[in-house]
Amino acid sequence: MESLTIENFLKAKNEKGEVSREVCAALEALCSAATKIAKLAAGNGIGTDNLGSLTGAENTDGDEQKALDVLADQLICSTLAPTGVSAYLSEERDEAVIFEEGRDSQIVVASDPLDGSSNIDTNLTIGTIFSLYPAKAGNWLREGRAQQAAGFFAYGPQTVLLLTTGQGVDGFCLNEEGHFVQMDWQPQIPATTKEFAINAANSRFWPAKVQRYIDTLLAGVDGPRGTNFNMRWNGSLVADAFRIFRRGGIFLYPEDSRKNYENGRLRLVYEANPIAFLVEQAEGRASDGKIDILDITPTSYHMRVPLIFGSADEVDSYHSEQ
Ligand code: F6P
Ligand code: MN
Repeated sequence: MESLTIENFLKAKNEKGEVSREVCAALEALCSAATKIAKLAAGNGIGTDNLGSLTGAENTDGDEQKALDVLADQLICSTLAPTGVSAYLSEERDEAVIFEEGRDSQIVVASDPLDGSSNIDTNLTIGTIFSLYPAKAGNWLREGRAQQAAGFFAYGPQTVLLLTTGQGVDGFCLNEEGHFVQMDWQPQIPATTKEFAINAANSRFWPAKVQRYIDTLLAGVDGPRGTNFNMRWNGSLVADAFRIFRRGGIFLYPEDSRKNYENGRLRLVYEANPIAFLVEQAEGRASDGKIDILDITPTSYHMRVPLIFGSADEVDSYHSEQ
């Protein structure tokens, strides 16, 4: 059977009235930019390319910018410019890029152009995360529930795309001919899990609730959960998320007592919202420990939120820990 390309997949969705032409055009542009980013990542270290090198600059959040962070951001921005999108918000930029305020569609694309940049030089999975929602000039921010489409590309052994336009999640893989084709897989996160992901190096900074919850998992068969848990931490949100879509799990980047980590590390607009939309569409749950991520009102482009997501019953277990 011939695989369905992303273009034909989107065309069918547009004909069914599930997604607008403007959103389709923006998604196709993101696929085209991601194809180029995947090539750049695959060529890192060959010849004089050193895409993991520091540019000497920092982004708004104080993260050091790597060469590939900047290249990915520029590629996405220039590819979106002619599509009819109104504005582009990027983790790598202080301000919104406004293409044309008067455009009818008023679609905003928010993106973390290169997620997991500490892994560029380590040949581990990195990615691009994106969120599309309608917004008006003057306020380019909306709560996550307003998203019309969201997803991420993961550049690993395979270049993959997980996409939602609000009717479940679909998976695509970049084939040898350079087309994203639909995978024979309908991502659904199992409700239960025995695997968790957290950066345990921060444990001395965690709030007591987080410490107690992780202690119950570490206690294994001898503890209150009566079962052994396994741990995985990639240092790339996209890689941990992809694993959770494949086989379940819980991911936690909670708030902690380090300076600037009062609200965790991850950004609501570029990371938590798109991941949460995908997770809910795959029957999982995503919260900041108190409320669903998608119900949070963003107050600034770069605001951070604690992020806990994955298998619904396990996120509930975290919530019931006091
Ligand atoms: O984009 C931020 C990010 O790199 C995520 O991809 C990843 O999950 C997290 O930070 C890793 O943070 P840390 O280095 O603190 O473990
Ligand atoms: Mn990131």
